[in-house]
Amino acid sequence: MPLHLLDHPLAAHCLAVLRDRRTGPDAFRRHCERLTLLLALEATRSLATEPTRVETPLESTEGVALAAPVVAVPILRAGLGMLPPLLELFPEVAVGYVGLERDEATAVAHSYYRKFPPLHDRVVLLLDPMLATGGSADKALAALAEAGASDLRLLCIVAAPEGLAFLAERHPDVAIFAAARDRCLNDRKFILPGLGDFGDRLYGTL
Ligand code: PRP
Ligand code: URA
Repeated sequence: MPLHLLDHPLAAHCLAVLRDRRTGPDAFRRHCERLTLLLALEATRSLATEPTRVETPLESTEGVALAAPVVAVPILRAGLGMLPPLLELFPEVAVGYVGLERDEATAVAHSYYRKFPPLHDRVVLLLDPMLATGGSADKALAALAEAGASDLRLLCIVAAPEGLAFLAERHPDVAIFAAARDRCLNDRKFILPGLGDFGDRLYGTL
């Protein structure tokens, strides 16, 4: 399971704004989108291209076109905050959805919704800002693999060591792109230092 951690001053700045307890939903959403744009660029660095010819106003030259369609799959609801930059970068992107919610007492995620476009031979970017126990990502990745996805990449903002270890065991081929690897989980399975409940902060449901 290759782990790619962002190493960019803008990413570090955005992450600090997200972590700050005083940041309200409007700024939280904007910094989430900026950070996701950087993650998306890293996660798609290896996208296949094919050669094209381009006519400039002066002459003919070589160009490239993206060869493989991209699919983005946000895990509801917090993953929705990461979707806008994907739509902007890849206007042709197909979007699937997975609805998962952790039980507040057990932290075990249960699935309540699923809708996927065709996944075969496509680069599938799973969007979930928080990788805590890894239970939600594990269920989403298993569902996507069962539906035909083979090139799966997970984009998250904060990853806990516990979730990374769980996914390494369960999905060793899935590449993970994250802005930070945090210290650990607390007794309620929240990430430390973390940034709190991502969905609540994104949508003002605290
Ligand atoms: C949060 C978060 C992840 C999940 C991570 O979602 O957005 O999907 O927890 O935790 P895990 O790695 O332990 O599974 P939550 O269940 O709070 O739902 P929400 O996005 O609808 O708020
Ligand atoms: N989900 C969140 O939103 N935050 C955490 O710290 C853990 C799971």
